Amino acid sequence: MANENETAPRADRAVTMEKVVALAKRRGFVFPGSDIYGGLANTWDFGPLGVELKNNIKQLWWKTFIHKRRDMVGLDAGILMHPKVWEASGHVVNFNDPLVDCKTCKSRFRADHLLEEKLGIADAESLSPDEMSAILRDANLPCPHCGNRTLTDARQFNMMFKTTIGPVSETGQNVYLRPETAQGIFVQYKNILASSRVKVPFGVGQIGKAFRNEITPGNFIFRVLEFEQMEIEYFVPPEEGEQHFESWLAAMADWVQLIGLTPERVRIREHAKEKLSHYSTRTADFEYLFPGSLGWGELYGLANRTDFDLRSHQEASGVDLTYFDQANNRRFLPHVIEPTFGVERTFLTLLIDAYDEEETVDVNGKADTRVLLRLDPKVAPYKAAILPLAKKPELTSLAWSIFERVQDELGILIDYDETANIGKRYRRQDEIGTPFCFTVDFDSLEDGAVTVRDRDTMDQQRISIGDVVVYLQGKLRA
Ligand code: GAP
Repeated sequence: MANENETAPRADRAVTMEKVVALAKRRGFVFPGSDIYGGLANTWDFGPLGVELKNNIKQLWWKTFIHKRRDMVGLDAGILMHPKVWEASGHVVNFNDPLVDCKTCKSRFRADHLLEEKLGIADAESLSPDEMSAILRDANLPCPHCGNRTLTDARQFNMMFKTTIGPVSETGQNVYLRPETAQGIFVQYKNILASSRVKVPFGVGQIGKAFRNEITPGNFIFRVLEFEQMEIEYFVPPEEGEQHFESWLAAMADWVQLIGLTPERVRIREHAKEKLSHYSTRTADFEYLFPGSLGWGELYGLANRTDFDLRSHQEASGVDLTYFDQANNRRFLPHVIEPTFGVERTFLTLLIDAYDEEETVDVNGKADTRVLLRLDPKVAPYKAAILPLAKKPELTSLAWSIFERVQDELGILIDYDETANIGKRYRRQDEIGTPFCFTVDFDSLEDGAVTVRDRDTMDQQRISIGDVVVYLQGKLRA
């Protein structure tokens, strides 16, 4: 992993956000939301390959952190929760960003970002809106968008989306779309304790949607209004917070390695004390080096939430949330270590990290650029593709029989493609990250073998049809 103070190499890669966005649309990973209506800003839909990649990420996460660990259980809580949850959690009062409007062009900006970027003020986030406004007034900054000096004062803007249960005009109840999945776990912690055999230290994991009315969404799916989180709340004895923080830091680093991200493009950054969220005494972010102006950006977070949430919910609900530690005959409110992972950020980072271009020659000997996604086979949408060389019944029926055997015996998603010439088909599979292509040709009818092509090296090897399943099994396990 990169050192926190290191400026990692950045301009030496072919990848740009624009290229990734174009590939994502062209190949059916991500489409602009409501596309035929001109789109709805900062909303995106996941296409046929996107949903596979997303599901692979979520399933791998669930297997790694829930199924493989004896100290973890899962939960799937609702998006809508009692409004008192968000009062107790501090989100109604604290989940704000300082907002500045331009009176001329109506653009909106984060006041702290303006102070940091335009005036070089470090830690602007820790200033109050009044302090930010005073500095902005003195500086009389032009609007970064239209250039007019018509920026408003900074005001707090709550990022939770509101909606109403029941008819608005009658007895409608205002509720929020959850801005984090975490609170579902805190609110169900007592039921989980009572219904399962978990003992502190233990954790609860959850994958689900979260919603935030971000002032400055953008950078494709990096910052969106609706996204998925994979969160763990890990309940520990109060005096063991630091020790578990360290072990989760290591577990998160292992995950980054498991999904195959380039270590030099990932770093861990500790938050300064004055920048911590209202619930945290220590936070460390896993950051990734995104291309272009985005640079280092948050991928995942790890926070020591202490007993803040359980204590707040205990006080607000009047329900005793303490834990009885039988072994030591004592009662306490557990502290919570929270590793949190964004699905969309994982998805985006995987695409960017895997994107590569190679100068090569096509089947006719002409110079050509090969675009490929070097995705780890664990997350690649298709693990393999079966390609009959020509659309002849004797080849296609053999290819389909291999396809069916691989799917039946390995239970993995593979592709079948008989359209276009074989060179074009290889390029398509390269672009969507399929690690292995098996080509059935006329020789296959005689020698009972197929050609397997490796996406990354383009090496080709002849293997017996009877060995295809074992070959793939070995490669996927490796
Ligand atoms: N429960 C703690 C929590 O929600 P966070 O850092 O605000 O912490 C957790 O969010 C993760 O969710 C981030 O590390 C990031 O991966 C993802 N995330 C947060 N806001 C996002 C947004 N607007 N769009 C996409 N992903 C987001």
